[in-house]
Amino acid sequence: MSFSSEIKKIVGDHVLEAREDIIPYLKDASYFVGDVPDMVVIPGSAAEVSEIMKLCYENEVQVTVRGGGTSLTGSSVLTGKGIIMSLARLDHILETSVEDKYVIAEPGVRLDVLGNHLSQYNHFYPPDPASSKSATVGGTISTNAGGLRAAMYGTTKDWVLGLEVVLPTGEIVQFGGRTLKKTLGYDFTALMIGAEGTLGIITKAILKIWPVPEVTGRIQAYYSSIEDVGNAVSGLKREGVTPMIAEFMDRISMDSIGKSKGLEFPANAEYMLLIDIASTNESLERNLKYAAEILGIYSPVDINITTDREEMARMYEARKGAYASVLSERESADQYLVLGDIVVPASRLPSAMKQLKQKISEYGGKVSLYGHIGDGNIHAHIFANTSDPEDMKKVDRLQMDLARIAIGHEGSVSGEHGIGLEKKELLKEEMKTRNTLGTLELMESVKKVFDPKNLLNRGKIF
Ligand code: LAC
Ligand code: ZN
Repeated sequence: MSFSSEIKKIVGDHVLEAREDIIPYLKDASYFVGDVPDMVVIPGSAAEVSEIMKLCYENEVQVTVRGGGTSLTGSSVLTGKGIIMSLARLDHILETSVEDKYVIAEPGVRLDVLGNHLSQYNHFYPPDPASSKSATVGGTISTNAGGLRAAMYGTTKDWVLGLEVVLPTGEIVQFGGRTLKKTLGYDFTALMIGAEGTLGIITKAILKIWPVPEVTGRIQAYYSSIEDVGNAVSGLKREGVTPMIAEFMDRISMDSIGKSKGLEFPANAEYMLLIDIASTNESLERNLKYAAEILGIYSPVDINITTDREEMARMYEARKGAYASVLSERESADQYLVLGDIVVPASRLPSAMKQLKQKISEYGGKVSLYGHIGDGNIHAHIFANTSDPEDMKKVDRLQMDLARIAIGHEGSVSGEHGIGLEKKELLKEEMKTRNTLGTLELMESVKKVFDPKNLLNRGKIF
């Protein structure tokens, strides 16, 4: 029996083989175009995933697993010959326990769907990447997604209690569990977070949940110098204020959001800081005033406070759509955005941001900056003609320069989007500078233990 017929025996009709059906799976949200898979298989249960992997293991067929396809580093496109597995049908929320503070979800559940589900219990799952409408539980675990609320709640790694995983051999294993604590030797749950689908296939996730804060209020402060922005955020934290959200945006980003979402920003502002404070009803006003006073020390050109929920929601959605808004500024169809994703400890921000700005002005091309400044994570959006090798050489040099600034400030080359195809050189640079290339070798050894035939998401990370 042919491989294709064997697959159909497992999943029935849930296989795409015609070119026209496969086209949507050739790309993710990055500029990379993947190789054409022999088929896209869409299993409906962990048992089916297991059967497919047994077959692929036996026949040495490469498998790239796909969630929402929102990767900005090319981690969900296929490289080489193989098949794509979409987990879109594994989209059920299986169990919710407010008492024990967890929810169990399948990997294909989209984060906004999970959020809506949890809101009926007045709880939430804190990781909130900008792409939460389409990003999935499995994909965000696989990239250790961060997003807008990480300033207070940390990233995905802080919210995963346990996982069910199908190994490349087809064996189904359980890592972690339902309890908040557990110490049972090596932590394989942690190992799967950020593994970009190279070690196993997540088929179920036990996620920690948290009560929704009683109330939140917002301060928008505008500055003309990038150092003041960095200093203002550091100042807030030094004074003991932990914002739930602390985002920043430069003028290019404000202008593109303004245009696409019909919002207005003060004309004399170069940078915006958007700070959300979570609080109780009694102390909200006092907490907002205190935070605004600190932000006021660093010479803002304008500052305003709001607790209007509609206004706040509108700006929050606009911020989440920033990537698309900035993308719509491209000058031709072959221009794309290449995403820088560096992160530094928040106290090193003022110096790091000054150097970033300097490097970007030396580069000369169009770059917009925004990001999750509360946790030190800055995105540089580099407009690039990705099909022009000369242009890409310049972009790679800039990415390396920005990465070196991050490393030089005790930070990292990738805050929340992972390595994929895009940041392999930067990963090596970070390990080399830290004199720990052995870490990379260990990673490769771990990959061999889990996936001796190198079947899962080949060519990513290393
Ligand atoms: C954001 C994505 C690019 O922060 O991470 O909008
Ligand atoms: Zn981001």
